[in-house]
Amino acid sequence: MPDIDSIVARAEAEFASAADAAALENAKARYLGKAGELTALLKGLGAAAPEERKRLGAEINDGKARIESALEARRAGLADARLNSRLAEEALDVTLPGRGSSRGGLHPITRTWQRVEAIFRSIGFDVADGPEIESDWYNFTALNNPENHPARSMQDTFYVDLKDGKGKDGGLPLLLRTHTSPMQVRYARMHRPPIKVIAPGRTYRVDSDATHSPMFHQVEGLWIDEDVSFADLKGVYVDFLRRFFESDELQVRFRPSYFPFTEPSAEIDLQFASGPLKGRWLELSGAGQVHPQVVRNFGLDPERYIGFAFGSGLERLTMLRYGIDDLRLFFDGDLRFLRQFA
Ligand code: FA5
Repeated sequence: MPDIDSIVARAEAEFASAADAAALENAKARYLGKAGELTALLKGLGAAAPEERKRLGAEINDGKARIESALEARRAGLADARLNSRLAEEALDVTLPGRGSSRGGLHPITRTWQRVEAIFRSIGFDVADGPEIESDWYNFTALNNPENHPARSMQDTFYVDLKDGKGKDGGLPLLLRTHTSPMQVRYARMHRPPIKVIAPGRTYRVDSDATHSPMFHQVEGLWIDEDVSFADLKGVYVDFLRRFFESDELQVRFRPSYFPFTEPSAEIDLQFASGPLKGRWLELSGAGQVHPQVVRNFGLDPERYIGFAFGSGLERLTMLRYGIDDLRLFFDGDLRFLRQFA
């Protein structure tokens, strides 16, 4: 008589030591499979005497049931262990502090740009935008700056080599504009007087020191009508400065100067009211009464139309507003500097 109890005990021990599902199924096959120990005993029952067969059959079935239940228990145990280890691997610690969101801010030059637009809009100026790659004609010639005129060399720039490899596009040399003044001509040729516009934007020159950068921003202003005088330029510009700097105590000076496209011409300087350069003067703008030849290039009669123009540096306005002594700080991208304006 086979010892069913010891077979069941061996099966239980093997199941318990099976490390994974595959080992468990192999162990099961050794007892319950086609060639398994219990299966062999069941097959052998036929040879036993009828009385014996009944008792033996019941005993073997009872053993089989015990092995099957040990098998099920181990299967469930292995499945639990697998689930627990996956949960441990993929666990999220919801108690960790979050990364937080950092706050962005507008660049100080952008703030100045927006402020200038808001002030001029409020006194009836339109705001226009124009190309940074400009033709030699708009940048120089139309502004009464003839070819080979020495005033051109004050504004050296990058010439753009297009199409024929000689920097010519349909016969017009192209360049990165050296000032926003070409927008005077572009805008005036598209609109009828009264013309009252500002044109802020990027400009380029071969320049680099604490008050000059190779790429910088200007805002052009132009007011043309039948009786706009130099006194209007002073009135409008000083009023703009008072509003921009929120002060009536500004030290402003109009210094005689020369531009081929204005006559008379002035440079406008402002004194630093704060910062390491406090008390020092900084040039902010070129300005003047628009030259009759330029009014003609607008397509207007200079006997009838007259007015003023100015071009101011946005970096310079920003330096003066916050008392900053080096405009290169605006382009270094140092967050310690930029965060102060956020
Ligand atoms: C001009 O560019 C004239 N187009 C201004 C003008 C317009 C005169 C209309 C008359 C009528 P200027 O080269 O001086 O002029 O430049 C004007 C202003 O731009 C300067 O006062 C300064 O504030 C700023 N600027 C000029 N070059 C640089 C530079 N490299 N980096 C930063 N700001 C500059």
